[in-house]
Amino acid sequence: MGLVVCADAERAAIEVADLIEAAVRNDPRLRLGLATGRTATRAYAELVRRYHASGDLTFRHVTTFNTDEFVGIAPEDPRSTRFTMNTRLFNSIDIRLEHTHVPRGDAEDVELECRAYESLIRARGGLDLVVLGLGHNGHIGFNEPGSSPRSRTRVVEFTESTVAALSDGQRCRNLSETPTRAVTIGLATILEARRLVLVATGIAKAQAVHRAVDCRPGPSVPASQLLAHPGLTIVVDREAASAIDRPSLEVGRV
Ligand code: GLP
Repeated sequence: MGLVVCADAERAAIEVADLIEAAVRNDPRLRLGLATGRTATRAYAELVRRYHASGDLTFRHVTTFNTDEFVGIAPEDPRSTRFTMNTRLFNSIDIRLEHTHVPRGDAEDVELECRAYESLIRARGGLDLVVLGLGHNGHIGFNEPGSSPRSRTRVVEFTESTVAALSDGQRCRNLSETPTRAVTIGLATILEARRLVLVATGIAKAQAVHRAVDCRPGPSVPASQLLAHPGLTIVVDREAASAIDRPSLEVGRV
């Protein structure tokens, strides 16, 4: 596992953008898994900036799969993952929208949608790199505490703390507007990816980072189950790293 501690959230976004840019330049047909949270979207803003500044960075042949979508929410709804990703990233780079995949949370048969999403990832050959945010309770994608490392794309019910975190005004204005379920890709699908980047910033994530990194891996902290993955890089800022207490960890600092 690589752990990179950055001076602040801005620097962490640059670090994540570096990893994505390098992966896309190395393999223009990259199959990229993407998270939608505030932390990851900071890195996407940096990618958009680089796309316009560089002149030779292209996403034309990249395929993306978002990790999750709210159940019951249509793609046009500003709360949806689809809307967020289109406005924060996809519409601002040269990726083909038909190469960007997000589960339909408003599918009539959402169980069927889950199976179809999983099959689509498999049909495309799996994921090369997945960018993941970290929930306050250690969730990744929307794999809430209790999620099995064998889990696949499915519908999950949010814990109360996740509903509270989601109603913070970024995507949902208040509790009554906050969905209570999502379609999420599973831990097994994530763990099969070749590389994983887990990013967390801010003091509010310090305990989640500590539990993911220092405690015995297990379903109660879903992110801890990523540590067994040989291609995992954790990118945190100093605040998010402040509760890590494993002395043997090799840390890169930028
Ligand atoms: C959310 C999402 C993830 C996100 C993570 C952290 O609930 N399912 O896509 O990466 O939790 O979000 P944030 O970075 O906004 O704290």
